[in-house]
Amino acid sequence: MFPIKRNRRLRTNQTLRNLVKENSITANDFLVPLFIVEGNNIKEEIASMPNYYRFSLDQLDAELNELWALGLRSVLLFVKVPEALKDNEGKEALNPNGLMQRAIKHIKNLYPEMIVMTDVALDPYSIYGHDGIIEDGVILNDETIAFLAEMSISHAEAGADFVAPSDMMDGRILEIREALDDHDYTNIGIMSYSAKYASAFYGPFRDALDSAPVDLKNIPKDKKTYQMDPSNRIEAHRETELDIEEGADIVMIKPGMPYLDIVRDIKNEFDLPIAVYQVSGEYAMIKAAAEKGWLNHDEVMLESIIAFKRAGADIIASYFAKDVIKLLAKN
Ligand code: PBG
Repeated sequence: MFPIKRNRRLRTNQTLRNLVKENSITANDFLVPLFIVEGNNIKEEIASMPNYYRFSLDQLDAELNELWALGLRSVLLFVKVPEALKDNEGKEALNPNGLMQRAIKHIKNLYPEMIVMTDVALDPYSIYGHDGIIEDGVILNDETIAFLAEMSISHAEAGADFVAPSDMMDGRILEIREALDDHDYTNIGIMSYSAKYASAFYGPFRDALDSAPVDLKNIPKDKKTYQMDPSNRIEAHRETELDIEEGADIVMIKPGMPYLDIVRDIKNEFDLPIAVYQVSGEYAMIKAAAEKGWLNHDEVMLESIIAFKRAGADIIASYFAKDVIKLLAKN
């Protein structure tokens, strides 16, 4: 009798489907990005990221309490730096009393067991909106990584558990690892943005931090001399392999959904935890389509997250983390 194999048998009802499910999502999978601003009493919605906010430190506790209660216990910090404190070298990033350093202390003080990861990059501090120091229109590599190493020390001093360099300069993982070790921060980890593409999906994030490259003569208009070309697959292997050799503890692929092939490649080829970043533009797309009634928000959100697990991600940085866990708790 044809067909002898009937795959639909395993899809007969929900209990059976649950039994044969290959991947599922829990709060442990998530890394929650947090945007911090200077000031008091600020919880402002980011225009291109509906229902996502920038918090001043005094407004952060309610958010942290909620995250902790939901089981979301790892955060990735970004700061919005006042214009007046920006320069070419990002000097404010080393201020021991700067916003990032205060944010780290604030969170570790309230939740010592929360994993605090920090963005290590120049762009929020750069008057030019670039991830590197600029001279004569060129992004300097070696000067920048020396600076990123100092920035990492500063975050470690403030109490960060992990630093997460998102700049894509060459050699920065080794420079940072050696600097951390020289300062006896041997237990501070590095989550490297290893395969980070020059993506237009970062648009809303740059609105959130006011960190887009400026439109000035002799300043590169985009990040294509350091972030990767979206056409390239083999190069992601090369980038990731180097970061691992240089001492990365976790490697990240970014953006997420358009780069699931890369997530799977890296998962198959290397044996350390793989993170993926569902970036601001991916979030904005789903929100906008849902607002228009064109997509079912919750279903598309869950489908997008399970796709990361299926592709091989161990850690998912996503602006949907809270919504996903709340939704799963209801079901
Ligand atoms: C910059 C940085 C960016 C993001 C994280 N770190 C933007 C960029 O490279 O221009 C993007 C995150 C997102 O879009 O959600 N160091």
